[in-house]
Amino acid sequence: MSAATTAVDWKAREDAFVLPTYAKFPFVLERGEGCRVWDDAGNEYLDLYGGHAVAALGHSPEEVARALAAQARKLLFYSNLVYTRARAEAAQALVEFCGEPGSQVFFCNSGAEANENAMRIARSTTGRAKVVAAEGGFHGRTAAALAATGAKYRKGLSGLGADVVHVPFGDLAAAEAALKDAAAFLLEPIQSVQGATTASSEYLKGLETLCRESGALLIFDEVQTGLGRVGARSARHAFGARPHLQTFAKALASGVPAGAVLAVPEVSKKVKPGELGSTFGGGPLACAAVKATLDAISARKLWENAAAMETLIRGTFAFPQIVEIRGKGLLLGLVLAADSKPVRAALLEKRILVGGADDPNVIRLLPPLIVGPAEVTALRSALAEIFGRDARP
Ligand SMILES: Cc1ncc(COP(=O)(O)O)c(C=O)c1O
Repeated sequence: MSAATTAVDWKAREDAFVLPTYAKFPFVLERGEGCRVWDDAGNEYLDLYGGHAVAALGHSPEEVARALAAQARKLLFYSNLVYTRARAEAAQALVEFCGEPGSQVFFCNSGAEANENAMRIARSTTGRAKVVAAEGGFHGRTAAALAATGAKYRKGLSGLGADVVHVPFGDLAAAEAALKDAAAFLLEPIQSVQGATTASSEYLKGLETLCRESGALLIFDEVQTGLGRVGARSARHAFGARPHLQTFAKALASGVPAGAVLAVPEVSKKVKPGELGSTFGGGPLACAAVKATLDAISARKLWENAAAMETLIRGTFAFPQIVEIRGKGLLLGLVLAADSKPVRAALLEKRILVGGADDPNVIRLLPPLIVGPAEVTALRSALAEIFGRDARP
């Protein structure tokens, strides 16, 4: 029998056995390299979605694959009951990448877990219960993280936790009133899922002051904004505001599940043994990937490329159909005058992957941080053709 007649329909098989919780691109992905991925029919796609901001170094980066293979052969796993070189190196790399001296790390497995643990640290170190969150944020699907997430994702769910209150994003007066007796203010400096809605430096610095005055901790959810994506090492650096806690996941281990909370010294010294825990968090395999990823982002100063590509995009995407470009670095929202869905579908026909957002008019760009002028120009040309074709007199 030929390969064609024995081909398995993996899409149908996945649909048969996996709960239907996601809207998916309509192909079976087989492999990836750099900014490109290939489906099982051999079609090549330009990936400007980056596997949802995970593939900062591009797909299957060699340095991470090598570190994983070496670690897997040496020690695949042991729990947090032992010290490991991999964990020590990964934590040091994260502190040196974006913390201040004396900061310390708690490792977990995902963005939601990182936010859960950050809120837990805030509650236990302040002795207060209430967490204030900005409306429209996305912090994950576990109970406490979801309680802090925007209303759309909490619809129909009760019992998520009564101790979270939401205030409008960007409203310092509302933050000040809500912060009385609060343990923390949690927000994404750039609300990515919402549509790359971007805070001002003044707002974030104002929150820093309000938190200091009220005794609450400021938590930046840097699951998307961290690790070079916003044209600086993290949003903390990009906006010049100092949070007490930063949470990371997504690109942290190039796709191996990993999350982390980074705590400044005055908070980390208050965390007590036994307060937090995770079987897999800080495991050797994930930590080997964390170290290799951070080393590669640092060595290539990829935040500088992210800033340069933002400048290129802002300078060359002057289409009348794009009414605004939101975001920073390579976390960008192209805001169209109308629903972006048809344009995203037309890009997919041209084998270019981009993201949508809660704001239906937004096309979200979250490409690998190694993306260059050739890929930006390819997107620009595709949009020119699509807009030209669809342009109304
Ligand atoms: C800003 C932000 N925080 C948290 C999360 C949750 O991360 P995870 O899906 O790894 O739990 C996401 C996921 O998209 C996110 O974008």
